[in-house]
Amino acid sequence: MSAPLSAPVPTAGPLTQLIYASRPFGFSGDMLDDILMAARRNNKRDGLTGALVCRADLFLQWLEGPREKVTATFGRILRDDRHMEVGLIWVGDAPARLFPDWDMLDDPARSWMWSREAVRDGAMGRASAAEARAVFQRVAGEVATQTPMNIEIPRRHPTGTKF
Ligand SMILES: Cc1cc2nc3c(=O)[nH]c(=O)nc-3n(C[C@H](O)[C@H](O)[C@H](O)COP(=O)(O)O)c2cc1C
Repeated sequence: MSAPLSAPVPTAGPLTQLIYASRPFGFSGDMLDDILMAARRNNKRDGLTGALVCRADLFLQWLEGPREKVTATFGRILRDDRHMEVGLIWVGDAPARLFPDWDMLDDPARSWMWSREAVRDGAMGRASAAEARAVFQRVAGEVATQTPMNIEIPRRHPTGTKF
């Protein structure tokens, strides 16, 4: 049997996954860089991985790792004044990580996700756990085919990405 390409970050106790959506407050590229820098630094320390879908009108984040670290991180995120209307969409335990190689992948919200009009009309408040999970499963599938495993790449938005 061949060895797995990437070993998941070890976790003590249950592996918990959490999804929330929120509305950015004063969105800018610098603000996003600051968020991602802190997220990656802390998440590496805490054994968390995940992905952040980000657009001027939307944050949608997947966080996974040891339950107490996910809870503590979400507590800090809830108090962060760079976004508002934070709504928990899903939390639960899982057997394996969806983003084992990413301290925090950033992904611009794309056309197959919710439109700006839909977000403005409150789509995130109505989003089901299954819908939100499907978004991240698709993102994870896309990066798995595009990115060499286990190589750390400083991720910024591609030039020209419109927020
Ligand atoms: C949309 C959003 C996503 C964030 N994601 C994370 C994260 O994954 N991990 C993290 O530690 N902090 C994250 N933060 C930042 C936290 O709110 C908080 O500023 C940070 O954890 C404080 O870390 P420090 O005490 O090391 O400065 C996020 C903030 C926002 C607004």
